[in-house]
Amino acid sequence: MTEVVKSVSEWRKIRKNLSENDIGFVPTMGALHQGHISLLQRCKNDNRVTVASVFVNSTQFNDPEDFKKYPRDFERDLKMLRQAGVDYVFHPDHEEIYADEYRYMVSEKEFSTKLCGAYRPGHFDGVLTVVMKLFNIIRPARAYFGEKDYQQLILIRDMVSNFFMNIDIVGSSIIRESDGLAMSSRNQLLSAEERKKAPVFYKTLNSGKSVSEIINELEKSDFKVDYIEEHFGRIFGAVFLGKTRLIDNAPRN
Ligand code: PAF
Repeated sequence: MTEVVKSVSEWRKIRKNLSENDIGFVPTMGALHQGHISLLQRCKNDNRVTVASVFVNSTQFNDPEDFKKYPRDFERDLKMLRQAGVDYVFHPDHEEIYADEYRYMVSEKEFSTKLCGAYRPGHFDGVLTVVMKLFNIIRPARAYFGEKDYQQLILIRDMVSNFFMNIDIVGSSIIRESDGLAMSSRNQLLSAEERKKAPVFYKTLNSGKSVSEIINELEKSDFKVDYIEEHFGRIFGAVFLGKTRLIDNAPRN
């Protein structure tokens, strides 16, 4: 049975009866896809109790338009979470999480200003703050994140380590559509024509060509490039296709 929990106080009553090592956690912003399902399956394999959260976190959107159009369909998400056998779904509203009106935040000063952080000011402050709040509420032993948001994964792992939090951060490889496009909630926002073109992003990123060649090729195919950069033996990219921002990364071969 999947139980929906809306408030921190309700969750704390449930949490009292669970032991330290019981809980695996998959935080999400909803608009679930196979990538989330694979994280949930991994979480279920590793833990006695699986908790997912569905919370579209306003503070990580630097563009209010982007927040407004972010896909939301809780009934559909809940159906998928039930099918995946999730035990608890934490689905708070904004006030429950931000009673402080975002007076307090977790901020990182270096890596969070690179890559996506350079183009989305404040984005990682919002991500780290909500993840810290969710971790303090849920108190999981393990939490699961996809490698599509690689920079996010590194920052969360680093935050947990530097705040001495006793949570294992488990990263999971990118799940792709059959044409190579990385699964993302934002793919729903692509028009039919954009969706056809979208896999060119991954194919070009993964072509082994130089950074400047990749940028040239993507621009020729009508992508607007935010960045293509190499770090830690991987190549990272963020592009716009029409109004939709896509990110991806791959080992550099
Ligand atoms: O990756 C996401 O969906 C979000 O950034 C997260 C981790 C759920 C925080 O809102």
